[in-house]
Amino acid sequence: PIDVRVNDLLHRMTLDEKIGQMDQISVVNMQGDCQWSGGAFTESCLNNVLVKNAAGSVLSGGGAGPSVNTPENWATMVNTVQQYAVKNSRLHIPILYGVDAVHGHNNVLGATVFPQEIGMGSTWDPSLVKDAGASTARAVAATGIDWNFAPVTDIARDQRWGRYYETFGEDPLLSGTLAASAVKGIQDAGGAKNVAATVKHFAGYGEPGNGHDRVPGDVSLRYLQDTLLPSYKQAIDAGAKTVMVNSGAINGIPATASHYLLTDVLRKQWGFDGVVVSDWQDVRALQTSYHVAADYPEAIAKAVNAGLDMAMEPYDAQGWSDGLKAALQRHLVSVSRIDQSVRRILTLKFRLGLFEHPYVDASKADSRVLGADTGLARQAADESQVLLRNDGNVLPISRQAKKIVVAGSYADDINDQVGGWTVGWQGVPDGVTLPGTTVLQGIKKVAPSGTQVVQAKTAEDAVTQAQDADLTVVVVGEKAAAEGSADSPRPELSADQQALVKSLKATGKPVVTVVLAGRPLVLGDADGTQGLLMSWLPGSEGGNAVADVLFGAVNPSGRLNVSWPKDIGNEPMYYQQLPGTNAGPESSYDADYPFGAGLSYTTYSFDAIKAGSATARTGDTVKLKVDVSNSGDRAGDLVVPVYVSQPSSDVLAPSRKLVAFTKVHLDAGQSRTVALSVPPSELAVTPGDIDGAGKQQVAAGPYVFTAGGHTVTVTMK
Ligand code: IFM
Repeated sequence: PIDVRVNDLLHRMTLDEKIGQMDQISVVNMQGDCQWSGGAFTESCLNNVLVKNAAGSVLSGGGAGPSVNTPENWATMVNTVQQYAVKNSRLHIPILYGVDAVHGHNNVLGATVFPQEIGMGSTWDPSLVKDAGASTARAVAATGIDWNFAPVTDIARDQRWGRYYETFGEDPLLSGTLAASAVKGIQDAGGAKNVAATVKHFAGYGEPGNGHDRVPGDVSLRYLQDTLLPSYKQAIDAGAKTVMVNSGAINGIPATASHYLLTDVLRKQWGFDGVVVSDWQDVRALQTSYHVAADYPEAIAKAVNAGLDMAMEPYDAQGWSDGLKAALQRHLVSVSRIDQSVRRILTLKFRLGLFEHPYVDASKADSRVLGADTGLARQAADESQVLLRNDGNVLPISRQAKKIVVAGSYADDINDQVGGWTVGWQGVPDGVTLPGTTVLQGIKKVAPSGTQVVQAKTAEDAVTQAQDADLTVVVVGEKAAAEGSADSPRPELSADQQALVKSLKATGKPVVTVVLAGRPLVLGDADGTQGLLMSWLPGSEGGNAVADVLFGAVNPSGRLNVSWPKDIGNEPMYYQQLPGTNAGPESSYDADYPFGAGLSYTTYSFDAIKAGSATARTGDTVKLKVDVSNSGDRAGDLVVPVYVSQPSSDVLAPSRKLVAFTKVHLDAGQSRTVALSVPPSELAVTPGDIDGAGKQQVAAGPYVFTAGGHTVTVTMK
């Protein structure tokens, strides 16, 4: 049994070796001469990190640089590090190698690149998200990696925040369900190695106080419990083996030093028994940024005592070791607390089978595994397209069209449609072009032979060409970056792009706007074109997916997983608005396109909603049935959401809250009855007065469930 093997090892470990296990060192930031440059590590570097400091884990945060970007190089690099650890560490303990493969194994050229999470969220398709997670894990495993820092499980409601696009969106249930699916996909992938998923960034990372990454958030306990924590819980309940801590501070305490979050909630309330890792250099930040520790040993003690098991890229390996030993000498932390973390880390290594299978066959790390799933990536990109406007059925594009103009600076740049964390940390590095299909290329591939496709490279050319065209597709967007660099206070389309679309509208010819961005953008002068398609950051298959929808090969089924604001300044932006006296739910929720919006090329109707029983006990799961039909003339996939509201409640309740959803296929003319259940956890809220410190419970009283325009009331006794 694993615990016997763990105990055996633990008893034979020195204090230095235990401290080393809690240390995760970055490949690019290894000290001194210890830099991986695509050649070989020096012996002194490997020895320093893996033997002298006995590091338990190594990571390549955001890619290790273009020089190692072939799959085989990656596998060789990881094998080299692993081999050194296994052969030369005194107890032959393998390391855990971690990477950010957040939308495919996006560190490696030639790997399948899926849409970013924000696009995956708009598919509302848990099984697709699971498959994408599994595909990613197989690619990651083929390159020797056993730990993926995904999925991002934070709730994003502030569109100024640069990591908005890395989330599944604004809704707790949708995000939690998709994150749970990603966890299962990553961990059950059946690749060359087992891969651990990471629920990150625990907790409340999506609450940056003023819209800037890692700025402290102040939230009520009620909001924390009822809105921010549930998605993490859902993903942890799915079996996630690791959790990464929020770099920010919540309610005056950095999450890295929060005993409440890391121990009371995560371990005691939720029973999590895996490994908790900090984010980048966050233990040190307790001293240097947050000033909640007078020196580094005190910072380490605060984090470890809060419940942290592993420090990602601490000061440096030696500093971590010296600091933790100093904390021990000063009795700031106990050996038994260290043993507890080491036990968790070793257990994870055994659970992953690392002691038995530490290496991979580097010669098998090639496109057969890494780039194998372009079909799945295309399906994901197809399903993530959200058609928001289709006046006069301008789409799908008529096969009789003689001339289509493709305009806009985002039409033909593959690197712009993939976002940050793609090959490099901030996105595809200069000088590297990602393989894939742009919107222009996608349109050219599928346009009928009788249709002329003209790219307009300047605004002037676009307007001239549009005059005698049947249609102009204008591709606009926003470049995405990562961590801090992507923050931007104005979620709106740039002035030059607005001007371009405005002048195209003025031609009087039909215009379809395609948006490639990681967040909704206030369109301003660009609003009001006949067609509007939100394509997000759709990955390497994005151009094909856009063309699939534009020409009708795919019937769009994406639904907004976030709210699209009418105006900037409307932040934070989310549909679960609470009532107020001067601003009712409608006026305080000024959305151009609300959460859940999305059109299709067929027509659906919601025909009825029924409950299994008109009354229920507060601990019961509510069983519902929703009748839906496809009254149009083509098949399609329909998202069926059920929202709840309460006619009266002690605690403020939003006018609608998503409590169940599914996605069903409907042939033309087909009707179906869809069964959905609402567990008590979806209705439970934190009772009590202003502090909201109580335990969540389902209040007695009537609950109104809505599907389409239909409602059914269930009274809880
Ligand atoms: O996993 C990431 C995290 O999301 C942000 N900071 C760096 C980590 C490792 O790259």
